[in-house]
Amino acid sequence: MTQENTQTPESLATTAGRIADHRRKYQEAVGDRDAAAAEKQHARGKMTARERISSLLDPGSFVEFDKYVKHRATAFGMDKHHPFGDSVVTGAGTIHGRQVVVYSQDFTAFGGSLGEAAGEKIVKAMEFALKTGAPIIGMLDSGGARIQEGVFSLSQYAKIFKRNTMSSGVIPQISIVMGPSAGGAVYSPALTDFVIMVDKTSNMFVTGPDVIKTVTGEEVGFEELGGALTHNKTSGVSHYLASDELDALDYARTLISYLPDNNLAEAPVYDSDTVYEITEADRALNTIIPDSANQPYDMKTVIEAILDGGDFLEVQPLFAPNILIGFGRVEGRTVGIVANQPNQMAGTLNIDASEKAARFVRFCDAFSIPILTLVDVPGFLPGTDQEYQGIIRRGAKLLYAYAEATVPLVTIITRKAYGGAYIVMASKEMGADFNIAWPTAEIAVMGGAGAVNILYRKELAAAEAAGEDVEALRAKLTAQYTADVTSPFLAAERGEIDNVLEPAGTRLAVIKALRGLRGKRQEGPAKKHGNIPL
Ligand code: HXC
Repeated sequence: MTQENTQTPESLATTAGRIADHRRKYQEAVGDRDAAAAEKQHARGKMTARERISSLLDPGSFVEFDKYVKHRATAFGMDKHHPFGDSVVTGAGTIHGRQVVVYSQDFTAFGGSLGEAAGEKIVKAMEFALKTGAPIIGMLDSGGARIQEGVFSLSQYAKIFKRNTMSSGVIPQISIVMGPSAGGAVYSPALTDFVIMVDKTSNMFVTGPDVIKTVTGEEVGFEELGGALTHNKTSGVSHYLASDELDALDYARTLISYLPDNNLAEAPVYDSDTVYEITEADRALNTIIPDSANQPYDMKTVIEAILDGGDFLEVQPLFAPNILIGFGRVEGRTVGIVANQPNQMAGTLNIDASEKAARFVRFCDAFSIPILTLVDVPGFLPGTDQEYQGIIRRGAKLLYAYAEATVPLVTIITRKAYGGAYIVMASKEMGADFNIAWPTAEIAVMGGAGAVNILYRKELAAAEAAGEDVEALRAKLTAQYTADVTSPFLAAERGEIDNVLEPAGTRLAVIKALRGLRGKRQEGPAKKHGNIPL
């Protein structure tokens, strides 16, 4: 497994000898150096570091960096085992013909742990990505800081975090967690734009089950604490729950297809077979809004009707499903989608939904991806739970994200758009460029039922005292309020809405709006950086 020192002065005295020596070393560096360890990976449903790179990149495109690097540690018997490449494979290659930089931690070498040499390799790859303006994809499978190397290991993590942060908003960063990611090491993925986790074989936690049990007495297993499902559904750390490693790599490849290489580049434009007249699918939108305001429908149907081929790459589908985020294309060009989902918690905005959407809006804005916002929101979720956990501070993130966004913003109000939630969801004065409402839109400070209870409190009380049918009166007043106050034409009269449009015309209107906005250039005042509520 470790390199045998077969070279002698004689063997290196000739060109043929040197080439033979190189071949040996090359094989040792890139070949299966520990078949038993590789077999152990496979038995767990995991690939080796090199297999993962091969599956991620276009065939034959990988150019490896630093394959001959070795660690220099000597303590704890480390001097007896110093494999080429240490515990990570790094390099560059292509996905769909476009350059990406990758690193893939090798669990078969010191459990993928990060010491000085492995850290330096990752840092070099990150710097290469930054200076060439290429996305970076990390495949993580590591026991964390290499215990034998102490502070030298910790400082490498600091270097990685620093570069993750410097790269944020400059190049897309994707982390695919394919094994353990423990302790402070989790903060590198956390700083990246998208975290993909593999079901059952990956986990992330700051303190593991043993420490938790010692400190708090709480008993929890790896999977429940920090497995892929937990981080996709409960914590929101992860953006995609992959069923296996190939699914994870496939999602990363698809994600890359929507993204530009860097903040100065445009996302790739694909051929599209856009139909420029109203189709049956367009017409179907005319019947999607139920007559009853309390009846839900699936906003994904609306999204799919607008996007090329109905292809919507949803991001974070399991976390805060009351808001939908993801990518699609219109006329072959990438667009980011943010949409309330009326069939989950009636599409209300809560803390999780606000943070989920805010981070996505900021990503799109950083990488010049136009945002299409679809609105059907009854308001922010009421309750002490939300207030105590900081819906004010945390809901403000979404306001901040939209308000500072300078990319093209197109907003469609399909139904409810009430109160603060109307404002936050890319309303006109938040900076949206085209605000369109369907005739079914209801734009107001609050919904009819709530408004009538406040506006007609005395009348309702008097009717009750007189023994009249209060519910009939309430229904009549609510209908009147909805007709008089919430009509989208009121907003259109003031220019808060640019157009009221039959749903069937939505796709074509979005096409035209995005076309019209291609030249949008907007800059805010010069500053070091803002202070988003965190
Ligand atoms: C050195 C490590 C290691 C580490 C694992 N190995 N983690 N070597 N430093 N951190 C080695 C093991 O000794 C073993 O070597 C091989 O990797 C495989 O590990 P196993 O334990 O046999 O594998 P498995 O049973 O699958 O368990 C994987 C594991 C476990 C859950 C990751 O190894 C583990 O708990 N490791 C320690 C995790 C940890 O506490 N790391 C520090 C976190 S703090 P041999 O030679 O036997 O094959 C941290 C701080 C970062 O990372 C700070 C950033 C600011």
